[in-house]
Parts: sequence; C-alpha cells; structure tokens
Amino acid sequence: MTKFVDSPYVLNMREVTRESYNRYWDERNGGNVSYRLLAEEVESYEDVHEVKASFELGFDASAIAGYYYLVTGTGRYFRNVYSRPTLDLGLVKISADGQSYDIVWGFEDGGKPTSEFPSHLMSHIERLKVNPEQRVVFHCHPTNLIAMSFTQPLDERHLSRILWKMQAESIVVFPQGIGVIPYMTPGTNDIGVKTSEKMAEFQAVLWPHHGLFASGVTLDETYGLVEVIEKAAMIFSQVGAQGGKILQEITDQELQEIAEFFGMTPHAGFLDL
Ligand code: 13P
Ligand code: ZN
Repeated sequence: MTKFVDSPYVLNMREVTRESYNRYWDERNGGNVSYRLLAEEVESYEDVHEVKASFELGFDASAIAGYYYLVTGTGRYFRNVYSRPTLDLGLVKISADGQSYDIVWGFEDGGKPTSEFPSHLMSHIERLKVNPEQRVVFHCHPTNLIAMSFTQPLDERHLSRILWKMQAESIVVFPQGIGVIPYMTPGTNDIGVKTSEKMAEFQAVLWPHHGLFASGVTLDETYGLVEVIEKAAMIFSQVGAQGGKILQEITDQELQEIAEFFGMTPHAGFLDL
C-alpha cells in the first residue's frame, strides 16, 4: 500500500498547475482544477479512507454522488502546488445523497476546495451527459483571451471564427467553437449554472474579463485545449500589434476542409459556406 501523495494523479496535478503558472495564466491564487478519479484508482491507497471534514455543497450534485475529485484549494497559489501538494490539493468524495462532500485526503492545513467548486461540479455533471469519460475541469486566466473580451463583441460565433482563423488546427481541437457567458460574479452558484448550461454545447466557456473554463477527458487534453485557444488569441493580439490589417486568411471553405479531413464537425451555422 502506498501513500496517495505518491500517486500519478497528484503528480499530474502538480505538473499541470506548474505549467499553467509558468504561462502567467494563474497569478496569485488565480485558477483552479478538478480531476475526477475512479474508486478503483483511489481506494487502493492507504491514506484516503478517513473523512477529515465534511461540507454542504449548496446545490444538488446527486448526479455525481459517490464520485471522487482531486481539486485545488481556495486561495492557494498554483506557484506553490508543486512543492506543497498535501496542503494545496485535496481529494473529496461527493456524499451518497449529493448534497455535501467529504475531504478524505490533503488540505492538511485546513484548506477547502476552490471557491469555483460549484462551476466545476455543475460543469462535470453537464459534460458527463455529453461524454461519460469526462474527468477534468480547468479554470485559468489566459491573458490574450481575456484581452479579446474587451475588444470583441461577446458573441460565440464571432469569437469562435476569429480563434479558428488564427491557427489552422484550432478548428480540429475545438470544432464546436467556444461558449460565452455574460460577465458575472465569480464563485457563485449562478455563474456555475450559466457555465454548465454552456458546457452542454461547448467544451470551453469564456468568462469575460476573467478567464476560461475548459473541460475534457484527461488533464493533457483539457490543458491542451486551453493552450490552443490561448495560442489563437495570442496570434490575434500579434496581428493587432503588426497593424491589424489582414491581407490573406484561412477561408471558411478551407476551415470546413480541415475539419472534414480530421473527421470533425464544426458548430452548425458558424461557417459561411
Ligand atoms: P480560488 O482561489 O477560490 O480557486 O479562486 C481563484 C479564481 O480564479 C476564482 O475565479
Ligand atoms: Zn478565476
């Protein structure tokens, strides 16, 4: 029997938070991650069988009753997660009635899950309906994408088209485009409800003037989605820095062809064909 801190899941979380911090996407305590683990992945570790604390969720999570989530703590800095995983990460189990959760590992100095836990869990519930393999929700503050939420109309079709056209492989990675909610107060159940509604249709949802919520099956895939979206936003910023005049572009027909070649179906109505 081994300790959970030595599991590959904790190592993956340490690495991805460090990586995201190094990209400047997680200043101070910005950003949070939740990663669903299966009972058989968790329960062989010796130190995950005792409930250390329990808290009410404040919304109904019965769709994920009994599920385990490895999650970053509220107020914790991504910069620190790598060196102090037992303080800044925690493993929680959703109660059998889906109304509360138990902390079974981590948060050793009294920490709690991210303030965005409602948005994470509601997004997990919605994405699980789309894909039963769904495991990861990743929130961070990607600089160039946030900048676009000031200069561009907050319109899903418009933003998705820009991001697709900035990099040939964008449409292959997020063929459904990017969802957008109105600006809202973070940490609330309300922003969780709005975000999760969008997650039914999109794997990534822009929080204007704040950041991105991305979801996926693995940490690699979800983090990769953030990378591709932010890369496209970065190129858009650089195009602006070079004067902003577009002399040639990837046409809608060419986008359709790339998507088709890789077996993807672009969001209905987002291309002019
Ligand atoms: P937490 O420190 O509660 O995870 O909040 C950070 C954040 O990015 C809020 O949106
Ligand atoms: Zn945030």
